Amino acid sequence: MTTTGTTTTTATTPTRAPLPGGTWNLGDLTVTRFGYGAMQLAGPGVMGPPADHDGAVAVLRAGVESGITHVDTSGAYGPRVTNELIREALHPYPASLHVATKVGATRDAQGGWPTARRPEDVRRQVHENLDDLGLDVLDLVNLRVGDAQGPRDGSLAEPFETLVELQQQGLIRHLGISNATRAQVEEAQAIAPVVCVQNLYNLAHREDDDLVDALAAQGVAYVPFFPLGGFSPLQSATLSTVAARLGAEPLSVALAWLLQRSPNILLIPGTSSVAHLRENIAGAALTLAEEDLAELERL
Ligand SMILES: NC(=O)c1ccc[n+]([C@@H]2O[C@H](COP(=O)([O-])OP(=O)(O)OC[C@H]3O[C@@H](n4cnc5c(N)ncnc54)[C@H](OP(=O)(O)O)[C@@H]3O)[C@@H](O)[C@H]2O)c1
Repeated sequence: MTTTGTTTTTATTPTRAPLPGGTWNLGDLTVTRFGYGAMQLAGPGVMGPPADHDGAVAVLRAGVESGITHVDTSGAYGPRVTNELIREALHPYPASLHVATKVGATRDAQGGWPTARRPEDVRRQVHENLDDLGLDVLDLVNLRVGDAQGPRDGSLAEPFETLVELQQQGLIRHLGISNATRAQVEEAQAIAPVVCVQNLYNLAHREDDDLVDALAAQGVAYVPFFPLGGFSPLQSATLSTVAARLGAEPLSVALAWLLQRSPNILLIPGTSSVAHLRENIAGAALTLAEEDLAELERL
């Protein structure tokens, strides 16, 4: 990661337990499969500053101190609030840390997520992300297509080609696609290499099962958003039964299931709590037996 205006340093880190799931290569960038999603660090409805500013900074620092090297964000969170928090908490960034961001949506005064995918919108968002994160180069930019209701059919060529131009100018290392249909993923892959797809997926939302497997076969990462269910964390009698049998929390089982589901799945669970962050890291290391997996399959 190239940090603006300062020499990037790697602090001496104490020995710590490896994160569950090991690592994955996004192009030439190695990241921990257990990452962190920063969206819910902003205020209510992902608008404005957090209620607990110092707590938000503490969660980001605790994540990196735990060994997390993949943080997911977007200039639309806050808007710009989450990126500014990441910079405040973590800049100058350790060389091992990779911040993935997204472009393609903006925010309106009501907290809505209008699309913003004209070439000038895409260019502006890339430059805002660079400025707010304090970077010369963005490690990974996902083009978010679709809308707040989910993927929508339609060509992504124009905004994706704009990102490719910015990549060729040296402002972006790797490209990804988010909130997309399989046809859009394939359309993007025909234009330029795609290192990850970030779509809604969790134990209760498995519409992308075939896509997860297809990307695994290609060595492309699949990054489920809302891995814990998002604004309404997952609740299910089956999940609770399996968790009780293992003496674990249901959300731990949900994360462990994702890690076991496919080696190309990267986790970006969100939390505003250091305690939940630690609980999630420990919980994701659970090993689910065949009978657990079979029961969860029926959820
Ligand atoms: N590409 C896209 O369109 C898109 C859309 C949405 C999200 N995303 C990305 O995906 C990331 C993850 O999504 P998300 O954060 O919205 O949803 P999530 O990870 O599925 O769930 C986060 C919610 O779970 C709660 N939680 C976390 N750990 C918990 C624990 N151990 N016990 C109880 N509650 C717990 C959090 O509350 P606490 O704060 O109280 O822990 C928070 O409300 C986001 O940060 C964002 O980077 C991308």
